[in-house]
Amino acid sequence: MSNEENFTSYRPQWRTGIGFLFAAIGSAVGLGNIWRFPYIAYKNGGGAFLIPYLVALITAGIPILMLEFALGHQKRASAPKAFSLISRKWEWVGWWSVIFIMFGIMAYYTVVIGWCFNYLCFSFAQSWGSDPNTYFFNDFLHTSSGVWDITALNPIILAAVALIWFINWAITYQGLENGIERAVKFMMPVLFVITAIIVVWSVFLEGAGEGIRLYLTPDFSKIANVDVWVAAYGQIFFSLSLGFGIMIAYASYLPKGANILKSSIIVACTNSFYEMFAGFGVFAVLGYMAFKQNIPIQETVTSGIGLAFVAYPKAISMLPFGTIFGILFFFLLCIAGISSSISIIEAFTAALNDKFALPRNKMITWLCILGFAESILFTTDAGLYWLDIVDHFINHYGLISVGILEAVIVGWLYKTDTLKAHILKQLGESGTRHRAVSKAILQVWVICIRYITPAALGIAIINSLITEFSKPYEGYPVSGIIVLGVGWLLVTHVAAVLVSGLPWKRNR
Ligand code: ALA
Repeated sequence: MSNEENFTSYRPQWRTGIGFLFAAIGSAVGLGNIWRFPYIAYKNGGGAFLIPYLVALITAGIPILMLEFALGHQKRASAPKAFSLISRKWEWVGWWSVIFIMFGIMAYYTVVIGWCFNYLCFSFAQSWGSDPNTYFFNDFLHTSSGVWDITALNPIILAAVALIWFINWAITYQGLENGIERAVKFMMPVLFVITAIIVVWSVFLEGAGEGIRLYLTPDFSKIANVDVWVAAYGQIFFSLSLGFGIMIAYASYLPKGANILKSSIIVACTNSFYEMFAGFGVFAVLGYMAFKQNIPIQETVTSGIGLAFVAYPKAISMLPFGTIFGILFFFLLCIAGISSSISIIEAFTAALNDKFALPRNKMITWLCILGFAESILFTTDAGLYWLDIVDHFINHYGLISVGILEAVIVGWLYKTDTLKAHILKQLGESGTRHRAVSKAILQVWVICIRYITPAALGIAIINSLITEFSKPYEGYPVSGIIVLGVGWLLVTHVAAVLVSGLPWKRNR
């Protein structure tokens, strides 16, 4: 089908340009921005981390985002269909990404949003008491002794996860415009306003300056370390939802003449600005805590889960009006999480719909039921270990592999010039004034996609593999790593190959 005919066939469409931008930013801005970025930045050189981070943003983040937007828009297709239109041989790449995201990341991501909802409720009475660490791991999660020590499901978490899946279902069931677009038009402004309130509130607390100083103090000695660069690329990928198939599906709903170039830069920069900004709030609160307890600030800094569910509750208990702060913070996490999780469901639904022409509503209902059933695996007393292993393997190997495949397939087999011409053509009249600048940017983009992005991601994956073989991840038993980490990727890979072999019910 020619590209012109492509735009005349029916496909749902964003009602407004801002609706699309909010949806793409909503997908990108998620739990990863609020609790992951500040800690990764601190651990990898503080202010100096901004150098590898910005290099990763420019050499992989923006180029892959632009590639995904352009591919989805040109083919007006979800990830599997877009790759199958390049060559039927590559259809599995699209299926692999949407399958391991839907049945990997989504399964535990909704559980973490469920915890955030539980903590939103706990904030009213500050139920974690004086020892949030014991409360989180023992009283709340009932964490067992190891990966295979599974004795019970956790009913409170299960109920919250059911609610989160219900909300996801209720939004996506309404369709693209009435569901996702309407929801993000409400959620995004609320998210930005709450973030601004929290950050401004935090930076005026006693001791906040010390926390911010720690966050920003550059440690240039770290920049020579490959691990720091790998961390920067990993953060950019997860945070921008790259390799998820989401941005391809979202761009496929854009009308003819959409400015792919501008949208990619807006989405990528807003996402990065948001995470750097949120970092000020996080470190200001840690500085306040250190000040109040009269301990060195380094002792208060912890990673992801520990930060949101241990360090923050501790700070909330010490703050004047802490209850309000707690409610705002956990509500913010819930919104950030849901605006990302709905995009995962949409990417998978679009893929199924493109290939099998299944009725959307039925498909979404079944998908949410199946997804919820899978999330139950992460609500047992061993759920924390399962989540940690699956998350590590999908992020370090799944997403990065898809990124390399995308860059190689588009850069070398499909030829970047085809997509470059599409992006330029879409600029139309409005773009003529800036055509020279756009052409120059696209020239750099071609070099990134063909050489720099695959090389950088290749080094990242090799480096992760070397670390993996030197010692099992976090000291987990090898059986857990093989079954939950490697197994998850292999099973989803086999499923992707099988699904891509099935006949198309719709015209490709
Ligand atoms: N991009 C989403 C996040 O950062 C998945 O949480």
